Amino acid sequence: MSCDDKVDCGRRRLLVATATVGGVAGVAAAIPFVSTFAPSERAKSAGAPVEADISKLAPGQMMTVEWRGKPVWIIHRTKEMLDSLTKLDDKMADPMSSRPMQPGYAKNEFRSIKPEYMVAIGICTHLGCSPTEKFKTGAESGVTDDWQGGFFCPCHGSIFDLAGRVYKSMPAPDNLEIPPHVYLSDAKILIGEDKKGA
Ligand code: FES
Repeated sequence: MSCDDKVDCGRRRLLVATATVGGVAGVAAAIPFVSTFAPSERAKSAGAPVEADISKLAPGQMMTVEWRGKPVWIIHRTKEMLDSLTKLDDKMADPMSSRPMQPGYAKNEFRSIKPEYMVAIGICTHLGCSPTEKFKTGAESGVTDDWQGGFFCPCHGSIFDLAGRVYKSMPAPDNLEIPPHVYLSDAKILIGEDKKGA
């Protein structure tokens, strides 16, 4: 999506520029910046795949890398986070991601290759704003009393769960996009390429 679309690109750039590791209950403040947020100049200019080092990403934390000018979120989901997803299927517009818009390895409840890691493009599928993380659950979330954690798009109120699945009856028509990616090792993910070279 280009900046000619109905997208608040300035806002997105700001969100990309300020993206950092986030986590539950302020854990992020205690750890160093964990990000491959500075891809090489060559990678940036060519839109080449970028590597993300997830070795320091603790359970419950999130990091952002930039790929083709877009924020790509990586969340190390806890068992509790994964358990919450299985309870939300009937509230989701496309719970198993069966719509033909994402890699085959995203067509499952967790929308991921490895259940514990979510890799998704942090751009709302409505008009392209960047949703904000809402990892706190329940009444403190500021979303709903039964909130299980996820993302809230401030532009028109779409909400997504911790797999990037959009809730039913939201302005956003689809789940967050899953970029092509592949694990180079347990600690490294290559964003922008998968085994089929997509
Ligand atoms: S851009 Fe996200 S709800 Fe409209």
